[in-house]
Amino acid sequence: MANNVDALFIFLLVVSGLMTLLIFTMVIYFAVRYRRQPGRRAEQIDGSHALEITWSIIPFCVFMTFFMWGALIYFKERTPPSDSAEVYTVAKQWMWKFEHMEGQREINELHVPAGRNVKMIMTSQDVIHSFFVPAFRVKQDVLPGRYTVAWFHATKPGTYHLFCAEYCGTMHSGMIGSVVVMEPKDYETWMSGGGNQPLASTGEKLFSELGCVTCHRTDTQGRGPNLVGVFGKPVMLEDGRTVTADENYVRESILQPEAKIVKGFKPVMPTFQGQISDEQLNALVAYVKSLSQQPTGQTGNVAAASPQP
Ligand code: CUA
Repeated sequence: MANNVDALFIFLLVVSGLMTLLIFTMVIYFAVRYRRQPGRRAEQIDGSHALEITWSIIPFCVFMTFFMWGALIYFKERTPPSDSAEVYTVAKQWMWKFEHMEGQREINELHVPAGRNVKMIMTSQDVIHSFFVPAFRVKQDVLPGRYTVAWFHATKPGTYHLFCAEYCGTMHSGMIGSVVVMEPKDYETWMSGGGNQPLASTGEKLFSELGCVTCHRTDTQGRGPNLVGVFGKPVMLEDGRTVTADENYVRESILQPEAKIVKGFKPVMPTFQGQISDEQLNALVAYVKSLSQQPTGQTGNVAAASPQP
């Protein structure tokens, strides 16, 4: 990703530089060549289709190259690969809180394996922040009340700067941290320490503690929809719309259950707004997600973190 962004940037720089050089050279050349001379009169030219078409088509192609190249990078950057390791992130004044699928929690420091796609699922507890890792060419605003997503594929082990790139109050400049990229082996060792509970298990426990399980049963008898296999699929709503069950949909359905009622169900679910923390919400989302994964689920499985060829 960083290579793509850099290549495009250098291309823009080179094209702009060449154009500037060309324009300056022509200005000087014409100023000298057509300077006022006694007895010389300008020759009148009445348009040239060939010339006009040429100077329209060439810039058009150049600008379309910028646009297409930029768009391709943008689409790639906005689409996290499905085999990504996932990290839930909660930003607040003034720190970054990370939670891995395996349950490890970190503050202002994020450990990731080299050679693996990593997807950040981020939300804010207060104001707008922005997740910025210059070395990875990744910057994404982090908003309260919803998830935003970013992803990267670190190739070289090392420690990289993490910044908050959105002014968020007095200590904004202190809202910094580091991303530690480790060799996959070292990462596995690091990950296996601590005896943490996977995020989805924490979510499962919450799911029964909060009573969700009494309505969202795994058969068709519940008062709420059966959630097995729902994540990532289209959902038919009572008002005729169809939405995709992504992280934001699950989040909204927990906090504002009446916002999108699934076809065939009544709006009977109470809201959990203000009753659970962002971390608990993340755990519930991770649990609902885990209900849709194959037994060999790629995400949240350290054993799958083998280096890519
Ligand atoms: Cu958070 Cu600036």
